[in-house]
Amino acid sequence: MDFKDKVVLITGASSGIGKEAAIQFAKKGSKVILVARRKQKLEQIANDLKKSNIPTLICECDVSDKLQVEKMSKLVLEKYGSIDILVNNAGFAIYGSVFDLTTEEIESQMATNYFGMIYCIKNFLPSMLEKKSGHIVNVASVAASFGLPGIASYCASKFAMLGFSEGLKHELKGTGIGITVVSPIMVRTNFFDHPSFKKCRNTH
Ligand SMILES: NC(=O)c1ccc[n+]([C@@H]2O[C@H](COP(=O)([O-])OP(=O)(O)OC[C@H]3O[C@@H](n4cnc5c(N)ncnc54)[C@H](OP(=O)(O)O)[C@@H]3O)[C@@H](O)[C@H]2O)c1
Repeated sequence: MDFKDKVVLITGASSGIGKEAAIQFAKKGSKVILVARRKQKLEQIANDLKKSNIPTLICECDVSDKLQVEKMSKLVLEKYGSIDILVNNAGFAIYGSVFDLTTEEIESQMATNYFGMIYCIKNFLPSMLEKKSGHIVNVASVAASFGLPGIASYCASKFAMLGFSEGLKHELKGTGIGITVVSPIMVRTNFFDHPSFKKCRNTH
């Protein structure tokens, strides 16, 4: 597939899988939009790419915040008209039993991992439909396929992402828009640096 000049927006581009995906798309000539909360990290990546004459757009945005996503997408659509590829990659897990996690900790994983994806799709899908082309990539997890102890609410958010994607795939038949779910397993990133995973390391 030729990615040259494709407009690619990646959420969670400040680290790990999203960062690497952004670099790879940029190297293939795509116009990459980097989205995450930590602006400094995004600036670092953008500056590194600039050294190789690769321009990028950075957008500081918390995808769990509907209004921030609306604002970010408005800015992007004003600049590019539409995007070709949306990579919903922003996500995190809090390790702990259902008994130990607070309701807010459980809600926060759903808010970013599931609703963050919904907000981005709701804001970018209309312009893709208008153009009759585009692709959505949802980064789920193997945890989207079976429940695991200690990350039940994370699994639920990824199950939700997978079910939503499957339903949407059927709806998008014949529109020219595709959808792919990527389910990684154990990639060495900052994912496991969340302080809650210390408990996991201590008990295993
Ligand atoms: N690593 C693995 O083994 C593994 C396995 C299966 C699935 N995954 C999935 O892969 C995706 C990427 O994870 P990773 O392994 O690359 O972890 P990571 O290095 O911790 O990266 C997570 C990214 O998500 C961003 N993010 C988190 N909350 C956000 C929010 N509310 N708004 C915007 N951005 C947010 C972070 O940026 P900021 O903090 O700057 O916002 C960061 O760029 C996640 O969806 C994860 O569930 C990872």
